Amino acid sequence: MGKALDGVRILDFTHVQSGPTCTQLLAWFGADCIKVERPGTGDITRGQLRDVPNADSLYFTMLNGNKRSITIDTKHPKGKELLEGLVKVCDVMVENFGPGVLDRMGFSWERVRQLNPRIILASVKGFGPGPYEDCKVYENVAQCTGGSASTTGFREGPPLVTGAQIGDTGTGLHLALGIVTALYQRTKTGRGQRVTAAMQDGVLNLCRVKLRDQQRLAHGPLKEYRQYGEGVSFGVAVPRAGNDSGGGQPGWILKCKGWETDPDSYLYFITQAPVWGAICKVIGEEGWITDPGYATPDARLSKLKAIFDRIEKWTMTKTKFEAMEILNKYDIPCGPILSMKELAEDESLRKTGTVVEVDHPKRGKYLTVGNPIKLSDSPSDVKRAPLLGEHTEEILTQVLGFDDKKVREFKESGALGGAKPMAAE
Ligand code: COA
Repeated sequence: MGKALDGVRILDFTHVQSGPTCTQLLAWFGADCIKVERPGTGDITRGQLRDVPNADSLYFTMLNGNKRSITIDTKHPKGKELLEGLVKVCDVMVENFGPGVLDRMGFSWERVRQLNPRIILASVKGFGPGPYEDCKVYENVAQCTGGSASTTGFREGPPLVTGAQIGDTGTGLHLALGIVTALYQRTKTGRGQRVTAAMQDGVLNLCRVKLRDQQRLAHGPLKEYRQYGEGVSFGVAVPRAGNDSGGGQPGWILKCKGWETDPDSYLYFITQAPVWGAICKVIGEEGWITDPGYATPDARLSKLKAIFDRIEKWTMTKTKFEAMEILNKYDIPCGPILSMKELAEDESLRKTGTVVEVDHPKRGKYLTVGNPIKLSDSPSDVKRAPLLGEHTEEILTQVLGFDDKKVREFKESGALGGAKPMAAE
């Protein structure tokens, strides 16, 4: 069976995380993804956080599966010539260099579309136009400037970053959607276009419920926040809400049996209104079903801490999995806190291809996260990440149609780099 993006050729000029997640996603859907890397070192993440000596890091291999790698020194005149050749035969060019880098290299949007009017040029930058547009940005800077950090953590503590890479991978996802949308529009207009996604914007998009709450603050306290029941007044901006649910159904993280020794022995518990009666029965507080102080969602808002403390007394008598099993019988929404170890070993995630084991010539087998988006007619087939420059010759001959003489000419020019060893950490 063919893949959804068969026939789409991507010039992948991305590095680190945000851009590579975008192009890996497109490659999983079947696009031919040609990763252009600097000779000698390649994507800097190949050598970062290495766990196996002389093998590409997991940082790199988990973000660059299903791609081909070509090394080109794009500051070398012959390298520029090669890049121009690739621009002419690719449908999409993706990059996430620092602001101005592509222009300095001689590949401004004007130049790129002059070379190929059908091409889509897609970029991730830290910020959109404005005071910070020239700044370089990494994940946590985006989390801090996009509203995530100020609303994550506990009220009495400092802002916190989250483990989810919402700035990098989140923006990569946004960019991928922009690219396929532009490809769709091209089927009608025949023209390419510029697609940009700023990390600050992407994070804010993912934090939109907090912007919702900022506006609600003007009309009174946020009653579903635990601090309301604790009698703590609200300031001018949305506060950090600990483990509050963020929605209309209050929730909290509760200890389960074994929490004293297992840092992940916890369960997220949601007191969804339609199952309030069932919750009361399970925890042995049947009186709360009719007690006017507890019977309605509004009445409960001022007592959330006390309610969750009581539910926790029950969850502490069960393991997180036992609690989940019991609660699910009553349709009570809850979820165990799963550690990375538990996720890595989860059989059902392996079966669906969300966690995949692949073999790599230098590092052996490694686990990676497969495509979380499942298409019935285009199942993803996760392949290992390429070695640096593994496909250089193949791309010159297959994609650019070079003969042996021309390949030799480019090799000898130095534009493809020598067979230098990988950079040390
Ligand atoms: N051949 C020759 N030179 C190359 C090359 C190649 N194949 N590939 C890259 N380069 C050069 C570029 O021309 C540029 O050189 P210049 O500064 O002299 O113009 C340099 O390598 C890359 O610069 P830059 O992208 O700024 O890298 P950096 O390591 O200094 O910064 C980031 C890294 C991530 C901070 C920066 O790229 C950035 O802000 N990107 C946008 C936001 C983003 O995606 N951040 C998240 C990353 S996960």
